[in-house]
Amino acid sequence: MWWKESVVYQVYPRSFNDSNNDGIGDIKGIIEKLDYLAFLGIDVIWLSPVYQSPNDDNGYDISDYQAIMDEFGTMEDFDQLIAEANTREINIMMDLVVNHTSDEHHWFIEAKNNRNSPYRDYYIWKDPLPDGSAPTNWGAAFGGSTWEYDEKSGQYYLHLFSKKQPDLNWENPALRNDIYQMMLYWLDKGVAGFRMDVINMISKDPSYPDGVEQATGYGDGGPYYFNGPRVHEYLQEMNQKVLRKYNTITVGEMPAVNVEEAKLYTGKERNELNMVFHFDHVSLGDGKLGKWTPQEWKLTELKAIFSRWQEGLENEGWNSLYWSNHDQPRAISRFGNPSRQYRERSGKMLATCLHMLKGTPYIYQGEEIGMTNVQFDSIDNYRDLETIHAYHDYTTNGLLTKEEMLEAIHKRSRDNARTPMHWSDEPEAGFTNGVPWIPVNPNYKTINVRRALADKESIFYYYQRLINLRKKYSVIVHGKYQLLLPDDEQLYAYTRTWNDERLLVICNFSDQTAMFQLPDTIKHQTEKILIANMDLDIERDLKAFTLQPYEAVVYILN
Ligand code: NOJ
Repeated sequence: MWWKESVVYQVYPRSFNDSNNDGIGDIKGIIEKLDYLAFLGIDVIWLSPVYQSPNDDNGYDISDYQAIMDEFGTMEDFDQLIAEANTREINIMMDLVVNHTSDEHHWFIEAKNNRNSPYRDYYIWKDPLPDGSAPTNWGAAFGGSTWEYDEKSGQYYLHLFSKKQPDLNWENPALRNDIYQMMLYWLDKGVAGFRMDVINMISKDPSYPDGVEQATGYGDGGPYYFNGPRVHEYLQEMNQKVLRKYNTITVGEMPAVNVEEAKLYTGKERNELNMVFHFDHVSLGDGKLGKWTPQEWKLTELKAIFSRWQEGLENEGWNSLYWSNHDQPRAISRFGNPSRQYRERSGKMLATCLHMLKGTPYIYQGEEIGMTNVQFDSIDNYRDLETIHAYHDYTTNGLLTKEEMLEAIHKRSRDNARTPMHWSDEPEAGFTNGVPWIPVNPNYKTINVRRALADKESIFYYYQRLINLRKKYSVIVHGKYQLLLPDDEQLYAYTRTWNDERLLVICNFSDQTAMFQLPDTIKHQTEKILIANMDLDIERDLKAFTLQPYEAVVYILN
């Protein structure tokens, strides 16, 4: 179970490093930075999709599962990436997007052209209701209905995301078999596993009922496709036919998954997946229009969420740990404090809090140098289809004003994570010598890799230390979690215990000093600091002491 000991680093190739100056990151660009990643110390790269795609959703709409996107390079480049990564003891985890394809995949083109094609049944087609309307009232993730009418055949097809992302019909064994063959192709090439895109959405309730109407006017179809009736059967079959033959790492991205479901997906005896990505903490503060109406959130809520997952999966299953990814705002802007005064300190505090929890930590590119959200003042600078559709839908139907929508975008748009990686203070942050596909965040002059590497106190070296500690201390990997001070709104404190090793982790999530009091139940003789984000050089009595704003400290207790 090497994946328990690993740290995963997510690369979003489009925004990572551009080797040929077309403004788009590419595989050769990733190869150029492998030494950097090896220096950081990570074990696995999760590569967001590099397959051929018309890029309606930046590669999450795949038109050929066994070809590389032209903009990203060639299959030779990809093979070289695996080989070069492996020589540095880094594994590659592919993104597997099999809830849907692109509408430009040849399966869909044939399905659409010919009702009698064997590929017709690779997708989900339904007749219109008697009045001609769509089969259900469901709203799609990127706006509009989940159903698109096809004039030629007189039927609708289902797309839970954009209309260029038709959902695959997993009921069809031939489709499932094609997917498994494709997975074997990549595993045989040497990839180490898969991050599975919205994999808990592949089994739909066959009765296709209407959903409860939302503020958008569309119905919520979620109950009829999240964790659907046959999803575990499909994953067990996938495991049997593909995964068990290799020593893989697998993580299923799962909106609307709870701990009980996650035990089924990741339980040791169940032979499905290693881990899931849940959305509970990244949904904190979602309002009536979800992330587009963001509200305040409380530390007690965050602690309750993490504790539920830590305790719930203690004996069965395994957690994945993340603050951010290509769909989320930047960690420091969302959960820390991006001000000049506290950016670095709060970035290190967040890293401490997450990397000391039980589970496999994921670092999203740029997090290790403390990149922050971007605030473009015009919608024209945004590229993400979700952001653009939501902006137009909500401002035209009067749900939000343009100002409100832009403010929400600044806080929660996916493009916050997708602006180019900051390599240096050279033009375009050293990402490209061309024109980047999305503008760089203007703060690259102060926040960039070159600067981070030159400063021994930088967030980068702090991440490097956290990763190294994981390799040295079994308690960080295996220790049992216990929450302390559940009602404290400033401090997140917990212990991890493994045999006779014990850690005490204390993180101040606020911009005020905070008083820590060690609960009487925690008995110990001596303590030693394992890692801390401040060099305070003062004697402290662990029984009660004051933490600085955003301070984080980890003690080993004996
Ligand atoms: C989740 C992916 O992470 C996101 O980027 C994508 O838009 C949707 N799934 C659809 O594939």
